[in-house]
Parts: sequence; structure tokens; C-alpha cells
Amino acid sequence: MDHPTTRTPEAAHFPLAIIGAGALGLHFAARLAPRLPVALIARNAERAAALRGGVEVGEAVFRPRAFAAEAPPTADWVIVLVKAGDTARAAEIATRMRPLGVLSLQNGLTAELLRAHCTAAQVDQGITTEGAYRDGGRVLPSGAGETLVPVGFEPVAEMLRCAGLQARVEPDIVRARLAKLLVNLAINPLAALFRVPNGALLEPPHRALLDTLVREALPVLRAHGLDLDERAALARVHGVATATARNRASMLQDVLAGRPTELDAITGALLRMADAGGFEVPTHRAVQTLVRAIERAAFDSPRGRG
Ligand SMILES: NC(=O)c1ccc[n+]([C@@H]2O[C@H](COP(=O)([O-])OP(=O)(O)OC[C@H]3O[C@@H](n4cnc5c(N)ncnc54)[C@H](OP(=O)(O)O)[C@@H]3O)[C@@H](O)[C@H]2O)c1
Repeated sequence: MDHPTTRTPEAAHFPLAIIGAGALGLHFAARLAPRLPVALIARNAERAAALRGGVEVGEAVFRPRAFAAEAPPTADWVIVLVKAGDTARAAEIATRMRPLGVLSLQNGLTAELLRAHCTAAQVDQGITTEGAYRDGGRVLPSGAGETLVPVGFEPVAEMLRCAGLQARVEPDIVRARLAKLLVNLAINPLAALFRVPNGALLEPPHRALLDTLVREALPVLRAHGLDLDERAALARVHGVATATARNRASMLQDVLAGRPTELDAITGALLRMADAGGFEVPTHRAVQTLVRAIERAAFDSPRGRG
């Protein structure tokens, strides 16, 4: 018999739900839960029950109102925080929740994929620089950031602010997403390939490659609305690498753990834009091949198959 706290909560209607009970999903849910009812959607019933029993988030034990992906409650607004490779499945779950809007706060470009699999009236992607990581069974916040949401998602920004998180509506969300993509597609694959913390990318021999990735990507991203010149683009990427010098980029963490990376939503997104616009991005293409090879090697190892 279930322990009382691990029983499935009443499937009430929620103002907000989060799909993805990983590092960032748990971090957001733990911050929001004291202020409003928030449903957390886990991969399956077993995981949902374990979460309801309690999970360490920061300094406290958090007991989320967790549901299995097979039986989600309805919700007004849904935030998607699964890894990019799980987006299509998350979109189908979100559709079943009959929300007013579905907001991805994932890295990479996932809005198109989300829209292709989700029939909610509003489906869009914001960005967040909030940070959290998993340490065994625990989730540790890795620094406060800011969450930008597209026009139409004002209630979501309001709920996040109500929980003490920094959040606002960004009228030019396309530009903001591209600026974040620029940073991700320069730092993430190189950190994964060289297995170094972000700060090391600013030093030789990695620095030349970092700057090449920025310079190559810039014309493609500018054609889609990014308003940075080369100097500003390099400064943006160097600034993030400096501010996060000791951090391990998420792609490096994925590679080290033998998990699939978000390469397709990051470098892959750039390559699709480059192909459509007739831009040459040979270094990004090479980086994609190399990261794919690492992923395959990790998957073929006993740990990856495990
Ligand atoms: N962590 C950060 O600091 C940070 C910052 C900015 C942006 N982001 C972005 O936020 C997204 C999530 O990152 P994260 O670090 O939180 O990843 P994560 O720790 O791997 O969490 C993802 C969670 O999604 C769950 N999941 C996968 N498929 C699911 C499904 N079909 N239904 C329900 N849950 C499902 C996974 O469950 P299992 O554990 O069972 O696989 C996992 O718990 C990524 O796009 C990332 O790039 C993260």
C-alpha cells in the first residue's frame, strides 16, 4: 500500500504545471509550490510516487504534487522542462492538459517541434538563465538568473515573480532566443568535446575555435533577427564563459553521464537555418559530427547501454 504522501494527488485543475521533473523543473516547482498549486509531471508513475515521497532541492526536502505523464491533470499554463530530445512526447502530454498556453524554457530551438505536436492555442519558447543541476538524487540551484517569456505569457511571468524569481515579458523574444542560441552553440559543443569547464574555452588552444564558431554562426543568426555585430557577439559569448568559468556546460554533463545531448536543438538548429539560407558553416558541421561520434561511443559503452 502507498504511503499517504506518495499517493497520486487529487487530479484537481492547476493554474500551472511543469513537465519534466529534472534539475530545472524541480528547482522551479520548489520555488513556486509555497505560493501556488503547481503540478509536476514526471516520466512515469514510479518516478512520480518517488518524488511525492520527497526530494532534496537545495537545503530543503520538497514534496511536489507529482503526476505520471500517463495521467496528467488539467492546467491553465504548462512549462516544458524536458531535454530537447523529449520535446515531442512532452508536447503530447501538454495537449492532454488542455492548457491556455504551453511555454518551453528549454535550451536550443524547440518551439517548432513543440507546435508540431501540441494543439494548445498558444505554444512558444522563452529563455531562462536560472540554473540547477542534479547531484545524485538531489537538485542544487546553481545561481539565480532571469526568465524571459513571449508576449501572451504574462500570467506565467507573474506566477514566477510571485515565487520570487526574476521574470518578465520580452517583446522581442526571437532576438533573445537567438542571442542565447549563439552562446549555447559556441560554448556547449566545445566544452563537451574538450571536456573542460566553460572558462577554459577562453584560453588557447580552445579560444580560436570558440571565436570561429561565433563568427561562422553570426551571419546566419543575423539573417533571422539577431542584432549583434561581431564585436558584440564575441563579447556576449566571452562574458558568459567568464561568468560561468567553473561550470560544466550541460552538453559536457550529458556526455560524461552517457546521456543524449541537446546537439540537434542547438547546432542542428543552426545547420538547418544555414542550409535554408545558403550559408556555409563548416566548423559547426565538423563539431556536429564529432559530438555525434562521442554520443555514439558513450551509448555503445556498457554504461551507456546500461
Ligand atoms: N539545468 C539548468 O541549469 C538549465 C538552465 C537553462 C535551461 N535548461 C534547459 O532546461 C531543460 C531541462 O534541463 P534539466 O537540466 O532540468 O534536464 P534534466 O535534469 O535532464 O531534466 C529533464 C527531466 O525531464 C524528464 N522527462 C523526460 N521525458 C519526459 C516525459 N516524456 N514526461 C515527463 N518527464 C520527462 C526526465 O526524466 P528522467 O529523469 O526520468 O529521464 C528528467 O527528469 C533543457 O532543455 C535544458 O537545456 C536547463
